[in-house]
Amino acid sequence: MLTLTMFFISLFHLLLPTTATFAYNATDIILLDCGAPSNTRSTLDGRNWVADISSRYSPFNDQNSSISSKASHQYSSVPTVPYLSALIIKSKFNYSFHVSPGPKFLRLYFYPEKYSTFNVATSFFSVTANSYTLLKNFSAHMHLMTNEDFLIKEFVVPVWDNEILNVTFIPSSNSYAFINGIEIVSMPSGLYLSGREIPLVAGVVGKSFSLDNITTSLETLYRLNVGGIRIENVKDTGMYRTWGQDEGYLVGSDWTSPLLNKSKPLQFTASTPAYTAPEEVYTTSRMMSNDSSFNSKASMTWKFSVDAGFYYLVRLHFCELLKEVTGPGQHVFDIFINNQTAEKCIDVFSMSGGNGFPMYIDYIVMADNGMQGKDLWLALHPQNAVYVDSFLNGLEIFKLNQSDGNLAGPNPDPISSPAPPVWHQRDEEN
Ligand SMILES: *[C@@H]1O[C@H](CO)[C@@H](O)[C@H](O)[C@H]1NC(C)=O
Ligand SMILES: *[C@@H]1O[C@H](CO)[C@@H](O)[C@H](O)[C@H]1NC(C)=O
Ligand SMILES: *[C@@H]1O[C@H](CO)[C@@H](O)[C@H](O)[C@H]1NC(C)=O
Ligand SMILES: *[C@@H]1O[C@H](CO)[C@@H](O)[C@H](O)[C@H]1NC(C)=O
Ligand SMILES: *[C@@H]1O[C@H](CO)[C@@H](O)[C@H](O)[C@H]1NC(C)=O
Ligand SMILES: *[C@@H]1O[C@H](CO)[C@@H](O)[C@H](O)[C@H]1NC(C)=O
Ligand SMILES: *[C@@H]1O[C@H](CO)[C@@H](O)[C@H](O)[C@H]1NC(C)=O
Ligand SMILES: *[C@@H]1O[C@H](CO)[C@@H](O)[C@H](O)[C@H]1NC(C)=O
Ligand SMILES: *[C@@H]1O[C@H](CO)[C@@H](O)[C@H](O)[C@H]1NC(C)=O
Ligand SMILES: *[C@@H]1O[C@H](CO)[C@@H](O)[C@H](O)[C@H]1NC(C)=O
Repeated sequence: MLTLTMFFISLFHLLLPTTATFAYNATDIILLDCGAPSNTRSTLDGRNWVADISSRYSPFNDQNSSISSKASHQYSSVPTVPYLSALIIKSKFNYSFHVSPGPKFLRLYFYPEKYSTFNVATSFFSVTANSYTLLKNFSAHMHLMTNEDFLIKEFVVPVWDNEILNVTFIPSSNSYAFINGIEIVSMPSGLYLSGREIPLVAGVVGKSFSLDNITTSLETLYRLNVGGIRIENVKDTGMYRTWGQDEGYLVGSDWTSPLLNKSKPLQFTASTPAYTAPEEVYTTSRMMSNDSSFNSKASMTWKFSVDAGFYYLVRLHFCELLKEVTGPGQHVFDIFINNQTAEKCIDVFSMSGGNGFPMYIDYIVMADNGMQGKDLWLALHPQNAVYVDSFLNGLEIFKLNQSDGNLAGPNPDPISSPAPPVWHQRDEEN
């Protein structure tokens, strides 16, 4: 017991944000512990969450539209803050946040559990942020993966001159909404919504997208440290993004990921500043086998599940790490997205500035309503160069809002197989 406590104390100190110096200093950080009775520091990441009782962020609502409640159960994997307390919302409820202008990360934390007499399986609701619909008739319960106990939905929402971000919860008829935590963090204005032209893969020839910081909102679907470890939010560059692992999305061969060897520091540039992604994203990568003749006939392939009927922003992060690559044209490969050529003969060494220079490339792709609409494929195929190989360091996939401002997709189909309930495999704390 003592050792466990000591472990948590030391973990806690390791994660204290005051000791961190980030590549990006956020101008806005709001952490709201919805339905919580008092301000608390989270054991999850050492950050201070503000209690939402009679919060200055929700002054317009009548007292009867919501109640604070505590989850009936806390599974051992679930941090108390912000998950154990919730605001149960019975009729339309507004939060109003004053923030600086520019795009903001908006993260919604959900712990789908039983609260008082409210059965989470009957909770369906919509969430809007200013003019964007983020979630529609959403069931947090149905969105839980079988090995998960809680859920974080991350969005990027532009905020304009009035400097107000309104987040509104609207229960579906005869239902209720709930929310455990709300996080708002600013970002460098050009990071994702830069206004640069982004090519559309397999679209009308010459058509491109320009994601501006006035009309575009995004939902983050995937953010991966390809070939590397999971990177927790406090180890991000200051925006509290979490980077997962890519193994679960690989199709076919389980390609090797070489040991990183950072003999010299990464060379960040004006086009890829140090806040773009944590160094660990660029110092680890996934490569193919060391067998050239095998590689020349193969592709390194990932598959991601998406909602049909939306455009997606696909950001690929690269950094040439092979010390043997010393010049242009030695390590060249093709990029296919949804089986269409996105890039022919990409030469990261040339494009980035050399060995150890991080870079990223953006593409837009449509997931249409056809048979393949629910899958997004990424494949890298080597060209016949000195090193017959392809590689990837990191990946982000965002859903773009539709023309009416909607980002919401359907709830997942209920799992039809009679799998044993997951809570049988978990130990409960109470
Ligand atoms: C961020 O703020 C901290 C403390 O205010 C400062 O030490 C650091 O240099 C700043 N970093 C950047 C990139 O501005
Ligand atoms: C909540 O916000 C919406 C949209 O901004 C507005 O139409 C509605 O009147 C607001 N409701 C309250 C109670 O403030
Ligand atoms: C809130 O509910 C109480 C009891 O049901 C009722 O008396 C009161 O009028 C309600 N207040 C508002 C603003 O609707
Ligand atoms: C929006 O983007 C433009 C360039 O595309 C930039 O000049 C402006 O500062 C940005 N505004 C905000 C608030 O981020
Ligand atoms: C936010 O909500 C308030 C109160 O409902 C409303 O007056 C304001 O216009 C809204 N702002 C935006 C940007 O939707
Ligand atoms: C909400 O979603 C549930 C489950 O997907 C469905 O049964 C219900 O009809 C939907 N309600 C509305 C108003 O769309
Ligand atoms: C890293 O590089 C250094 C010098 O190039 C070498 O001595 C060391 O063995 C390498 N480590 C790994 C893990 O490859
Ligand atoms: C590939 O690596 C293995 C060991 O890691 C080695 O035995 C083999 O010879 C290498 N093959 C080539 C073609 O370099
Ligand atoms: C794309 O390629 C994958 C793997 O090669 C295949 O399973 C899938 O059906 C293809 N999709 C389309 C739309 O051709
Ligand atoms: C996103 O929604 C806005 C309206 O809020 C619209 O002007 C813009 O064109 C939409 N973006 C896309 C890619 O459809």
